[in-house]
Amino acid sequence: MSKIKRLGVFTSGGDSPGMNACIRAVVRTAIYNELEVFGIYRGYAGMINGEIVKLEASSVANIIQRGGTFLKTARSKEFMTPEGRQKAYDQLQAHKIDALVAIGGDGTFRGAIEFSKTFDIPLVGTPGTIDNDLFGTDFTIGYDTALNTVISAVDKIRDTAESHDRLFLVEVMGRDSGLIALRSGIGAGAEAIIIPETKSNLDHLYTRLEGQHREKASKIIIVAEGDEAGGAFGIAKKVKERYPHYDTKVTVLGHIQRGGSPSCMDRVLASRLGFMAVEALIEGKKGVMVGMVDKEIVYTPFEHAVKHIEEINPDLIRMVEILSL
Ligand code: F6P
Repeated sequence: MSKIKRLGVFTSGGDSPGMNACIRAVVRTAIYNELEVFGIYRGYAGMINGEIVKLEASSVANIIQRGGTFLKTARSKEFMTPEGRQKAYDQLQAHKIDALVAIGGDGTFRGAIEFSKTFDIPLVGTPGTIDNDLFGTDFTIGYDTALNTVISAVDKIRDTAESHDRLFLVEVMGRDSGLIALRSGIGAGAEAIIIPETKSNLDHLYTRLEGQHREKASKIIIVAEGDEAGGAFGIAKKVKERYPHYDTKVTVLGHIQRGGSPSCMDRVLASRLGFMAVEALIEGKKGVMVGMVDKEIVYTPFEHAVKHIEEINPDLIRMVEILSL
């Protein structure tokens, strides 16, 4: 029998498509289990400021298909201080909230770890970030939609690149992770992919540009924003200096990747993880992220979830090069 009576749910950090679907699942699973449920607006910032509103089943009607997060989101500097966390806890106490579901990424779970060092309130997370950079889930909520956004944009760039015989460097998101670049690069048939994990070797790119099997008039190179070579603009500058004959252009896709209606895959993932997060709290779990690995639900302590260091499969990089001959 659950001891939890009043559940709070919030989204935090960068938004991602599917967060709304996850909130919907949390709210309705909680209500089904006779819990009262409260939406905390603007993540930890709203927790500190008491932006807390009771939600009903109808509060989350008609949001499964919407990008963004209706609870809004933020990155709170104040929550990083003991005083800020104390204020947040006082607000939770004032609203008699006795359990939390956090939907977010690395920073969200690091905040949860700090919070739980001082305050004993059960907290379970679900992975909401387009970056897919958490350990304990094959996919994060929003990653699939972001990938689809990227490949649909790159397909359009490809049309104009072809028409003008141009070389495009397309920069995608991923401050510390090249996973969006890698997967979208494969899906869009990129000629090369430059990601932070491989310590970008521009010599390798030059070899690729010079040694292609057949002379191609247009080329697409996907660059992860976190790459140390200076992002797409930095690399374009070097490519232009070395190959002045290429008509080189840069497109930075930016925050377009964070918005839009979630894909079916993200909606299903978000629904399943939100549902399981509430069940986990009812069963007495805390301090864990609920993820999906090999189609199974898994619970990963926050401390492990945030230590994700993705081993980039070298076969995938090799494959990109072979398939773009
Ligand atoms: O959500 C993660 C992420 O998309 C990173 O890849 C990116 O660097 C960052 O968010 C940018 O977010 P913001 O503009 O909200 O600070």
